[in-house]
Amino acid sequence: MMDRGLRIGGGGVPGVASKDPARMPSPIELNIPVVQAALSGYSDLAMRRVARAHGAPYALAEVVLDELVIRRGKERRRILGLPEDDHPVGGQLMGSQPSMFGDAAKDLVIAGYDVVDINFGCPVSKVLGRCRGGFLLSDPDTALEIVERVLQSVAGDVPVTVKMRRGMDDSEDSERSFFQILDGVYELGVSAVTLHARTVRQRYQGPSRWSFLKLVKERVGHHVLLGSGDLFSAVDAHNMMEETGVDGVSLARGCIGNPWIFEQVGDLFAGREPKGPGMVQMREAIELHWRHATELYGSEKAVRKVRRHAIKYAQLHPEPVRARDAFVAAFSDQALSEVLDEFYDESRYLHYEAPLAKPLEIR
Ligand SMILES: Cc1cc2nc3c(=O)[nH]c(=O)nc-3n(C[C@H](O)[C@H](O)[C@H](O)COP(=O)(O)O)c2cc1C
Repeated sequence: MMDRGLRIGGGGVPGVASKDPARMPSPIELNIPVVQAALSGYSDLAMRRVARAHGAPYALAEVVLDELVIRRGKERRRILGLPEDDHPVGGQLMGSQPSMFGDAAKDLVIAGYDVVDINFGCPVSKVLGRCRGGFLLSDPDTALEIVERVLQSVAGDVPVTVKMRRGMDDSEDSERSFFQILDGVYELGVSAVTLHARTVRQRYQGPSRWSFLKLVKERVGHHVLLGSGDLFSAVDAHNMMEETGVDGVSLARGCIGNPWIFEQVGDLFAGREPKGPGMVQMREAIELHWRHATELYGSEKAVRKVRRHAIKYAQLHPEPVRARDAFVAAFSDQALSEVLDEFYDESRYLHYEAPLAKPLEIR
């Protein structure tokens, strides 16, 4: 069993950001090597707060377009308005032009983001069509220019990290570009790479190739590599670290509606028996999420936001299908309260303890 943390940043790696030792980025120190991934449509402040309340040592915000960070307006204010209790937090940027990336990164740092992360993985066709996200895996020169500009602009104030997939597709050309970018970003001075071991073309179909993570970790040596893909349980997180040697893991779908996974990973790594939440804990987590969402968006929008998560929380309920359907049909404050009263009443489900999410059996 492991009982170790993870440090992201702090220097020791040659490159643009760390040539001057005085400008080495202050590291973020994680007590467990587990990260809450950037999750578009999910990882807003409300989700991050709930994840932190359950032991997530570091969380990334939803990916944002560089131009939205730069352009004056409501979106910029929302992205740059970080409260004190939301640290360490990573801001993830997506775009296509190196100079714009650089300017946006600077603004994130000034706003207080503890890490700037660069997205080279998004597989959405509109994003690819605009030469952003995963598209950049097929354009190593631009990808590396973006990383260089961000590092220059951040100037060692915070760690810069990169999120990648294992290539655009399964071609040799794609693999060559992948390694050109991978080797290049570490050489330039990024503090960590998170690798989702699916290709862009794969989107979410088929398994994440953990054997590729192992190969990459062997290649990059002391550089920090986090693994992503098919982490649905604490055991999966543990297994990925054991099987591949990655330095940490990035939880994505596995933590939507299951913030207990962070505590469970911590327990497992420390040699303790992980436990599932009871009814009271599940209700408290959903209500906490709802309170934070209401504070952020006002009550009407908060219900819509929380429903998406509650539908996932329902997977841990003893009657998962009925609970999910009830959340799906809850469109108002009152309806959502009624679902909680009906389905999350402790006296109806005495001594219930949610099972641990199942580890993946076939990969
Ligand atoms: C709904 C959703 C939104 C996502 N949004 C982002 C994002 O904004 N940035 C990012 O780098 N990855 C994003 N991802 C990818 C995840 O971080 C992760 O790499 C991927 O889901 C594989 O992990 P998993 O199989 O354990 O879910 C998203 C994935 C999902 C399912």
